[in-house]
Amino acid sequence: MAAALMLGAVAVPAQAEDAKTLASTVCIACHGEDGNSVVPMFPKIAGLQEEYIVKQLKDFMSGKRKSDVMGPVVANLKAEDVAPLAAHYSSLKMKVGEAADKKAVEAGKLMYQDGNETSGVPACLGCHQPMGAGKDIYPRIAGQQSEYVLQQLKNFAAGDRSNDPNRWMRSTAKRMTEAEMRAVAEYLAGLDAK
Ligand code: HEC
Ligand code: HEC
Repeated sequence: MAAALMLGAVAVPAQAEDAKTLASTVCIACHGEDGNSVVPMFPKIAGLQEEYIVKQLKDFMSGKRKSDVMGPVVANLKAEDVAPLAAHYSSLKMKVGEAADKKAVEAGKLMYQDGNETSGVPACLGCHQPMGAGKDIYPRIAGQQSEYVLQQLKNFAAGDRSNDPNRWMRSTAKRMTEAEMRAVAEYLAGLDAK
């Protein structure tokens, strides 16, 4: 494998090999060695659902999900790399973090489990599962970086992220205050969905 690389694409590596090579040479820079990024603004992608990862990569490639950072990355990605990359990262385990602001966790838990009836925020668990493990098209959000979660909620609220089916996340986030977003992000950072 290493020899083949040094000779310069003598043999096209098998797809699974190829995804691992991409992961360990490109994605690693921001998402970490095992898909558990340590940078608060970079999402952990280990253990996300396979179909969710496929959708996000395709959305970045088509511009449906805009990102100044991921945009240039996927510009060089081949369509056939998407499925093996998604299989690779979904097979890894997301590592749970810790809330930075412990005081916000209780309010965040209430928001996660009950939403806010007054302002019409639905309970997050209805879609993301009681412990945040996600299912099918609903992404795992338990253990995710809090800064990343906060930014995505702001992006949904402002309409800067608009690739959510049925506007579910846009209509949820735009009803939330920034304090509610922060609280739920802190709660999720330390939530262990197993
Ligand atoms: C230069 C840093 C960087 C590199 C390299 C990079 N990413 Fe990302 N990635 C990001 C950032 C930042 C985001 C969040 C984008 C946003 O703001 O919406 C992201 C988002 C994602 C998401 C969506 C995560 C979610 O929870 O919705 C996936 C999937 C992803 N990247 C996969 C990859 C793969 C696979 C590679 C390698 C081919 C890669 N990334 C390389 C920085 C990077
Ligand atoms: C009606 C279903 C539904 C509800 C309720 C809901 N979500 Fe979501 N959420 C989704 C779906 C579907 C996506 C994936 C969107 C996509 O395909 O890009 C998502 C995406 C997200 C993301 C981005 C994840 C990532 O890795 O980029 C965050 C963060 C999030 N939701 C948080 C919340 C929070 C917090 C609540 C409660 C206040 C909530 N959601 C309520 C369906 C829902």
